[in-house]
Amino acid sequence: MIWYWLLGGAAAAGVMLLARSAYERRHFEVCRWQFYTAAVEGPVKFVVLSDLHDWSFGEDNEELLRAVREETPDFVLLAGDMMTVKPWKNGDFQVCESLLAGLAAEFPVYYGSGNHELRMKRQEEEYPGWYSRFSAFLRKQGVCYLEDETVAIPQPHGRVLISGLDLDERFYTAKFKTEPMEDGYVEERLGPCCKEKGDYQILLAHSPLYFPNYARWGADLVLSGHFHGGTIRLPGVGGLMSPQYQMFPKWDRGLYEYGGSRMIVSAGLGTHSINIRLNNRPTLISVELRKE
Ligand SMILES: [Fe+2]
Repeated sequence: MIWYWLLGGAAAAGVMLLARSAYERRHFEVCRWQFYTAAVEGPVKFVVLSDLHDWSFGEDNEELLRAVREETPDFVLLAGDMMTVKPWKNGDFQVCESLLAGLAAEFPVYYGSGNHELRMKRQEEEYPGWYSRFSAFLRKQGVCYLEDETVAIPQPHGRVLISGLDLDERFYTAKFKTEPMEDGYVEERLGPCCKEKGDYQILLAHSPLYFPNYARWGADLVLSGHFHGGTIRLPGVGGLMSPQYQMFPKWDRGLYEYGGSRMIVSAGLGTHSINIRLNNRPTLISVELRKE
């Protein structure tokens, strides 16, 4: 008899957790940060979206667009994986493209790749024409796609540089372990950090695993995602698992510091494959740089 009670209790707990997960996946939160730097003349504000994975908050992501508008950003940054690239998708990025068109109509948008964007770029045989069609769409919308590139945001905001780093596939395909990154790798891809004294360097680097390398390159603020907050967050412990099946990842959600650099890791907005979120709401990041 006791087994019936135990099984019944476990089933009820499972249903409650799944219902909670479904609720969390539909309700994002806005996480706000404020940093001081001598590089800006006045307040500069931007929002960061990451790991949307084709998810929609309301029809055509109207809830997300409204939340972005309410932050009144000077520009919008995308930290990768805005869509899910798998063969069964047939190149249909309608949800992601609709959001990008909406954002680009109102704000300057700077886009750094995640492993899903890079997958369609590097695996042309498996995803024929997907990358060229998507990058043409971005150009048409006026989105600045940073593929191992750096741009300076227009005046009068101040001296702020934004770089987008395309990581090799090996950094994403390693499972259960961290693929080591050799010294000088970031310089090889992006060139030496070109900030001059007093500039503020933002780096869009989808995987947070290599924060020390990004910091040594010269990033003042790294913006990452990829880990989806660790899927399930245990109180006092943190995220349970990364998409590369690393248990209890070190940098999975929130603000971190290393050698004078900061890194914000977004918990992302959507999910894929493991469609669960517990104690781990989707996140829209809002950052304000203020004059020191
Ligand atoms: Fe990712």
